[in-house]
Amino acid sequence: MSKEEKAIEILKRFKQDHVVDWMGKLTENEKDRLIEQVLNLNIEQVIDLYNNLSKTFETGDKKIEKISAIDMNKLEDEEFIRYKKIGEDIIRNGEYAVVTMAGGQGTRLGHSGPKGTFKVNLDNGEKYLFQIIVESLQKANEKYNVVIPWYIMTSEENNNQTLAFLEVNNYFGYPKNKVKLFMQGKAPLISTNGKLLIGKDKLIKEASDGNGSIYKSLAKDGVLEDMKNKNIKWIFVGGVDNILLKIIDPLLLGITISEGNKIASKSVKKINPKERAGVFCKIDGKPSIIEYSELPEEMSEETDSNGDLVYGDVNILSHLYNIEALEKLSTKTLPYHIAEKKSDYLDENGNLITPEGKNVYKFESFIFDAFSYYNEMSILRVKREDEFAPIKNAEGNDSPETATKLYNQKLKKK
Ligand code: UTP
Repeated sequence: MSKEEKAIEILKRFKQDHVVDWMGKLTENEKDRLIEQVLNLNIEQVIDLYNNLSKTFETGDKKIEKISAIDMNKLEDEEFIRYKKIGEDIIRNGEYAVVTMAGGQGTRLGHSGPKGTFKVNLDNGEKYLFQIIVESLQKANEKYNVVIPWYIMTSEENNNQTLAFLEVNNYFGYPKNKVKLFMQGKAPLISTNGKLLIGKDKLIKEASDGNGSIYKSLAKDGVLEDMKNKNIKWIFVGGVDNILLKIIDPLLLGITISEGNKIASKSVKKINPKERAGVFCKIDGKPSIIEYSELPEEMSEETDSNGDLVYGDVNILSHLYNIEALEKLSTKTLPYHIAEKKSDYLDENGNLITPEGKNVYKFESFIFDAFSYYNEMSILRVKREDEFAPIKNAEGNDSPETATKLYNQKLKKK
């Protein structure tokens, strides 16, 4: 069977005959590109998900239970010092690296470039989000007399822009040979009628497939190999958009190592049962994060003997992994979650159609779905005002305005 015949067979099998028709309207070159794409797509998984839309991700009769966390405020001085020392030794030995996940689209913020290129006006100067991360790295490098390798996950949509931005800004003074960009995976978009769409480039429309893509992408792009060659043992993974994110924390390292765990996360205390945030828990005995929409109301209100919420540890996208954990997780396939989005496309005559409302399903895996491959993980609850100032929306909650205020308040405290 020729490549073309194979591609046509796949498309027909999944009832995507309109793409076969589209093929007939392309030049030889364009057609070859489309054929290659079809042969490399995981259409089956995506169509399968589409066919089972209503069945996906119901918590259903899964058993939700409390997970234990260490509250930083409740540590004895002696414990604090002991844990910190363990973590500091790791960092000083050059066994620690940082990964920034910056492959997202930042649709809610509406900034016209990668989120890391967004600028905030802080009391200590105007800074880009990438610049804030570099400053944290530099501070730690000075303190521990090392140069911490920095890996940035981009997506096909924003990789070139990210690279160009960092080049133009000379990596904000960070040694370029210690910075490595790698691209996350993608998945096709499916129209709400179950059809693949054609994009402006005349190929099937794809989009980045969520931050859970990180595990496979780390392996695929040779980052894990690079880490191993550098003798990295522990890797911090965080988002790009929390301007108070503590990317180097010996305390978290020390606790995780002392508890004998391979993965860890930080949390902050949920403000009230209604806060729209995912919280840590155990689902069917495995560490998980449950979205606010999936946590039954009575559970969201449940308190312990101290009056604290039982499900009160909010995920702030601040994760730590042993290299062995990343290696193991890079071999796993995470489930896709589905979001409805708006996406333009070419119709059968090649005209660009911009829909009025949401017209496609986007498939995303979430980084935290991998936690359930472990029985235990360390969770460290930290002070919200010290470590959590996310920029998600253009205005209102979690906006540049609220994050800037939190950042400036912390500056004053120092
Ligand atoms: P969010 O889920 O907040 O998404 O990402 P976002 O793209 O920044 O914003 P919206 O939802 O489009 O408004 C949390 C973190 O995960 C990264 C983001 O870059 C951010 O650091 N991320 C998200 C990826 O790296 N890849 C993805 O596919 C999605």
